[in-house]
Amino acid sequence: HPKIAVLTSGGDAQGMNAVVRAVVRTAIHEGAVPYGVHEGWRGAVEGGDLIREMHWSDVSGILNLGGTTIGTARCAEFRERSGRRQAVKNLVQLGIDRIIAIGGDGTLTGADALRAEWPTLVDELLEAGEIDSETAATHHTAHLAGVVGSIDNDLVGSDMTVGADSALHRILEAIDAISSTAASHQRTFVMEVMGRNCGYLALMSAMAGGCDEVFIPEMPPDDGWQDALCQKVRAGRAAGRRDSIIVVAEGAKDRHGQAIHATDIRDVLADTLGEDVRVTALGHVQRGGTPSAYDRWMSTLLGYSAALDVLRADETHESHILATKHNRVTAIPMMEAVANTRAIASHLADGNYERAVASRGASYSS
Ligand code: F6P
Repeated sequence: HPKIAVLTSGGDAQGMNAVVRAVVRTAIHEGAVPYGVHEGWRGAVEGGDLIREMHWSDVSGILNLGGTTIGTARCAEFRERSGRRQAVKNLVQLGIDRIIAIGGDGTLTGADALRAEWPTLVDELLEAGEIDSETAATHHTAHLAGVVGSIDNDLVGSDMTVGADSALHRILEAIDAISSTAASHQRTFVMEVMGRNCGYLALMSAMAGGCDEVFIPEMPPDDGWQDALCQKVRAGRAAGRRDSIIVVAEGAKDRHGQAIHATDIRDVLADTLGEDVRVTALGHVQRGGTPSAYDRWMSTLLGYSAALDVLRADETHESHILATKHNRVTAIPMMEAVANTRAIASHLADGNYERAVASRGASYSS
């Protein structure tokens, strides 16, 4: 009966519970024993009551819940080797050497570091007399799989990350709600949405909401964007448009790397056009609430596939991220996906926008 641990780490996302539920139930169905590591990697480092066996009914009634019922955290200790050593000790003492980590790129980088160091850390623990030789021999290697839980949809090479679809729905509900009050007063609203370095949520919500303009990190506006924006809003008003909505991604910047905040846009429109402008920053509302149908079934498929991936792993197994690509569940090499995602963030930080967009496209089609 292999033992398999599941944890959620980093920012929560709608659909994480569906992944956990699928992992637990697939493990039981396959004759394995699932464990929940509570509070993210902190649970692995601290051990004790934070690593608990999970039963079929422990994941009943969570498919429709937002957030993550096993808890999450951003764990500084796990970024240190000493923290990972403690985590390996806690896990192997329980007989666990298969792990499914659900989280963003920080979580998955940590997971891959743990997998790479695992045999050395086991040897060290044996030498220090902290584990016995049978434990060391039976759990000398670890098998890990990742599922990307993040509303940002920033994993390069996949269609959708867990939570992105639900966040998009939440943003659209807000845009629809705001457009009626905006139209009543003939006002302009600037809506700031999440996404870190990724403009997915902003771009898609602006398209689906029929908004006037969108600012995203991947496509900074040309110099003089202020005049172009004012002209656009003015033309819309002249054509009889009563509501104007502009979406700005939290990571939006201009061509010189200067952040464009919702308040900057408000000030431009108010000062130049005398518009009555309001700013709405949606914040964590985007991460809350019930997961969409897509985030329930897609996450279920990913959890199922991740459990099978680690349960069927042999000595040659490499860590994978289970993700949808071209609408099919795909196992993407974990470090390749994380490295590509980080490369794009650094292209954006360096102002290489075309390169960032080209790399995203290339990784997706390869
Ligand atoms: O990565 C998910 C995300 O919601 C980002 O969109 C946002 O920038 C960040 O997390 C907010 O982090 P926190 O919840 O720690 O404030």
